[in-house]
Amino acid sequence: MRDLDTLLKLGALHTPMVVRVAATLRLVDHIQAGSTTEQTLAKATGTNPNALLRIIRHLVAIGILTRSATGELAPTSLGRLLADDHPAQQRAWFDLTNAVSRADLSFFRLLDAVRTGRPTYEAVHGRPFYEDLSADPALAASFDALMACDQDVVYDAPAEAYDWSGVQRVMDVGGGVGGFLMAIAKAAPHVRGTLVELAGPAETARKHFENNGLADRLTAVTGDFFAPLPGPADVITLSFVLLNWSDDDARRILRRCTEALAPGGRILVFERDDVAEDASNDQFTLLDLRMLVFLGGRLRTRDEWGTFAASAGLGVESVLRVPSPSMPFDLSLLVLAPNPDREE
Ligand SMILES: C[S@@+](CC[C@H](N)C(=O)[O-])C[C@H]1O[C@@H](n2cnc3c(N)ncnc32)[C@H](O)[C@@H]1O
Repeated sequence: MRDLDTLLKLGALHTPMVVRVAATLRLVDHIQAGSTTEQTLAKATGTNPNALLRIIRHLVAIGILTRSATGELAPTSLGRLLADDHPAQQRAWFDLTNAVSRADLSFFRLLDAVRTGRPTYEAVHGRPFYEDLSADPALAASFDALMACDQDVVYDAPAEAYDWSGVQRVMDVGGGVGGFLMAIAKAAPHVRGTLVELAGPAETARKHFENNGLADRLTAVTGDFFAPLPGPADVITLSFVLLNWSDDDARRILRRCTEALAPGGRILVFERDDVAEDASNDQFTLLDLRMLVFLGGRLRTRDEWGTFAASAGLGVESVLRVPSPSMPFDLSLLVLAPNPDREE
């Protein structure tokens, strides 16, 4: 019976949606601000009181909320993780109006993705992922904010892991709103950097460079990494970019990067490269399956990186382990060098 209970919980679709609706409606924040009954919560959130009551019952059943003898609701310690100001910042990731939680609805058509190997985002939302973001500035801003959260913690370590001596020009391709490039500029005060991004993030990155007094050393340009890149650069960085793309598309990006490298230049890929035996863990499979349904992309294991880089005319010269204090796994900085005898 215990197995059956577990299976029923694993297969139930309502629980993740109830948690995300609670996050989207900011129920925990409203309760903490004093709306502790269904009636006051329904008023505060503009929802149907009866439907909300049924959501709340499930939140109590799964241990997110508790109800006192007098009927007052309160978040449990688990529920407090859904407060907007909780340092874990999980509420924003579950908020269905934000880009990633909305994109997770692509899992609704996972069966199609498994049958075809193709992403399902467009079938669910009408446009491919990045086109959808480009068409909706609020959605794009929510994505950039999620990508930039924790950026000090996430980007300082890889920026400090590399030896930048002898490097003058760095180009961060698909560099988001500039977190990694600013960390590199801090770790290596002699380098100058260019960030290449879609129009929205490039504009935000430009503002970040100005606000951080780095506009004299860092430039953000609008560009497409499937088209020729502005070069030459001594080092090109790709931080959490290649995982978005199939092998064919990721190879096209790497070829554009190789063309833009100065002689002797290197491409640094900041991503996960778990060994295959460790890849059956929740964080790896979540991100890997998200990449499948959002974009047709994939995570690559350590062995796969070697084969994949070789197929793009590059060799993995070294792999620098990067501790990631805010996450339960390490990340890697893969140093790729063009093979002198590569076949294009
Ligand atoms: C997963 S995010 C990673 C952002 C950043 N490198 C980081 O580590 O936070 C991937 C980035 O690729 C950018 N991108 C997507 N398509 C692109 C294209 N065709 N040309 C340039 N950038 C693109 C997106 O705007 C997004 O910021």
